[in-house]
Amino acid sequence: MKKSLTAIAAAALFATAAVGTAQAEDVLIGSCIYKFDDTFMTGVRNNMQKAAEAVGAEIELVDSQNRQPMQNDQVDTFITKGVNALIINPVDRSAAGPLADKAKAADVAIVYINREPDAKVLKGYDKAFYVGARAEESGTIGGQLIAEYFKGHPEADKNKDGKLQYILIKGEQGHQDATLRSEYCVKAMKDAGLDIVEIGSDNANWDKVQGHDKMKNFITSLGVESIEAVLCNNDDMALGVVEALKSEGYNLGTDGKDPSKFIPVVGVDATAPALQAISKGQLLGTSLNDAVNQGTAAVRIANQVAQGKPVDEASIGYTVTDGKYVWIPYVRVTAENYKDFQ
Ligand code: BGC
Ligand code: CA
Repeated sequence: MKKSLTAIAAAALFATAAVGTAQAEDVLIGSCIYKFDDTFMTGVRNNMQKAAEAVGAEIELVDSQNRQPMQNDQVDTFITKGVNALIINPVDRSAAGPLADKAKAADVAIVYINREPDAKVLKGYDKAFYVGARAEESGTIGGQLIAEYFKGHPEADKNKDGKLQYILIKGEQGHQDATLRSEYCVKAMKDAGLDIVEIGSDNANWDKVQGHDKMKNFITSLGVESIEAVLCNNDDMALGVVEALKSEGYNLGTDGKDPSKFIPVVGVDATAPALQAISKGQLLGTSLNDAVNQGTAAVRIANQVAQGKPVDEASIGYTVTDGKYVWIPYVRVTAENYKDFQ
């Protein structure tokens, strides 16, 4: 029996729909990073490149230079070029929705990383995913590290009032990691039974220089002697804080220096310079924000969806929650175990 015209049209349509998928050797992933000049995201970026090589996919990475309109254009260009999947680190995570719409219209996968979109954005498109880490965990680790130090070092209560006077240095406003880490580090100190007093808090946008400058301001206004701990939302800012303390003669390191001149500072990420500062006794601790596994998971998801293959633990090697999320755990890092992460 001859095929009817509609059946032929339907077959043709099916063929076009299948264009959305690629053969393993042809997968091209387009990836936008909110800005290349970010220490942690540089780690993720390098690991995505390695992971792409490992799965035999090609990846093209572009710098969105902290500008959302630029990122939107980059996504358009990738789609026009015919990428099979997108990995997006949004500049502004509230802009994730329109990007999912673009991906959906072109039938390409979109994997968001590091800046979590609204759950509705992921639900609205079957090829949308998120890879990240639960910021609550890193906040809790930071708060616990400070609480343990304060309990184990009576001299850390410099003004002997039985309370911990601390400063909080936050990341970028609107970033889930800044909000949740800040909330949970405070909660962890309270849960540990500490009587805490926030004597200063400011945003330093994940940046070392801003972290340094904000800390200088606090030292000037409060006096270094009144500061008993500093909790930072990431390592770059914590290292800026350590620099500011060093210029006051504090946190110079354990190597022959006065150990009483130490103010516990914690960060998040476990970057190479942070591990070094821990080894020198200048930084109390941090938590591993796992760039290797976050980068790898994102690439494996993109590569699977690009080929029309399933995304589950068996296929990507990571637990997939609600069919949408891969959560990579944080790990506590101190002088005791920093070598495991170098
Ligand atoms: C990291 C920061 C980084 C930020 C970028 C956070 O998870 O801890 O170091 O600057 O992501 O979005
Ligand atoms: Ca005190």
